[in-house]
Amino acid sequence: MKRRIKEHFYMLFQKNIRHIKVCFPYIEQHLYIGTGVPDLVVEKISSAKYDKIVAVVDSNLYEQRKDYLDAIFDKLKIAGVIPVESKEANKNFVYCDNILNQLSKLGINRKSCLLAIGGGYVGDVVGFTSSIYMRGIDFVQIPTTLMSMSDAVMGKVAINNNGKKNLLGSFYSPRFTFCDMSLLETSNRRGIVFGLVEIWKHSLLENNLGMEYKISEYLNGNELNSEKNLAELIKFSLEAKKKYTQNDYDDTKGLHKALSLGHTFANYIESKTEIPHGPAVFYGLILVFLISYKLKKISKSEFDHFMEVARLFEKEIKMLNEVQNHIDVNDALEKLKFDKINSGDTYSFVLLKKNGYFVCKNVDAEVLKESLDELKKLSF
Ligand SMILES: NC(=O)c1ccc[n+]([C@@H]2O[C@H](COP(=O)([O-])OP(=O)(O)OC[C@H]3O[C@@H](n4cnc5c(N)ncnc54)[C@H](O)[C@@H]3O)[C@@H](O)[C@H]2O)c1
Repeated sequence: MKRRIKEHFYMLFQKNIRHIKVCFPYIEQHLYIGTGVPDLVVEKISSAKYDKIVAVVDSNLYEQRKDYLDAIFDKLKIAGVIPVESKEANKNFVYCDNILNQLSKLGINRKSCLLAIGGGYVGDVVGFTSSIYMRGIDFVQIPTTLMSMSDAVMGKVAINNNGKKNLLGSFYSPRFTFCDMSLLETSNRRGIVFGLVEIWKHSLLENNLGMEYKISEYLNGNELNSEKNLAELIKFSLEAKKKYTQNDYDDTKGLHKALSLGHTFANYIESKTEIPHGPAVFYGLILVFLISYKLKKISKSEFDHFMEVARLFEKEIKMLNEVQNHIDVNDALEKLKFDKINSGDTYSFVLLKKNGYFVCKNVDAEVLKESLDELKKLSF
């Protein structure tokens, strides 16, 4: 047994596949990051001896990588493939219900497994569906965008409801996650930039200037030209996420909350517009910088430094005007009270301070109003 484990890790080392193990009370999950991992996907999923496997696949991606995916499906003897159209407007219960009906028709049971192949949309929809079908069945994730590889995995799944972002959800994790860097070949530069926002969030939480520098280099046009660099950023991001979730998987101890950095405002703006998640978190981070500086938790030079990196992001994202047009300060003040992090009467935000972050449970309404006004008038 020990020899087999040794051989397995030697194989990962030889193929330059990075491995992260995350232990939650209800599951031990294994995440792999590398290039050309289909053999590993087949080996690991086969070893779990599921009686049926159904793949739910982003339809765009399926068109572009049909050969790659069909080869995996054939080897796993997939019982069915459900293509889905990834868009935020589809991240709802009606869409999940449609998938649930198809699972039931395919005879999926508690010994079966769902294979989620796509970006964060597919991860959330399939993860949520897996968490409720027969009170929970296994799922495995193959994230295909930088956003999903670096953040939309590991332990929380949710769908939108009643106009509210991620209102229905579960703490639920895939048994295996395979980040195959070769899948990013079809991603455009904007897709990569959107994913870099979440990696930047993790570098801010960790006060990791080295990672922030690598992100700035990419934004400055010095490509992260080797898959190795991107894989390193993903590994850093997932290790950071592990740190905040492993000891607080169900978000009750305060540690997990750190990951909400930038998300309080992002949830608001995503519920009002069709701005994608990455940019929404980006403008949420800018609001965090403005509040943190106003509360004197970060110095002028720290604020200027963050805004310098933000300027590089804005050159690519270019949605500031759109966001500004959608900020109705009074409406935001009302709605932000009801973000998941809040209880309806105060404003909680994860903010930045020197060398890290803190959770501020009662940001003064006047401070928030002034910061929103500043965001509305901001120019780079
Ligand atoms: N559960 C979590 O912890 C978590 C964390 C972060 C984000 N999310 C959620 O993830 C969603 C955003 O995820 P996303 O940014 O990956 O967007 P997405 O899943 O909507 O995908 C964006 C676009 O990329 C396309 N696509 C996917 N893979 C591709 C590839 N390899 N090449 C080319 N195109 C590809 C899709 O068809 C889609 O058009 C949001 O709903 C967000 O709330 C969840």
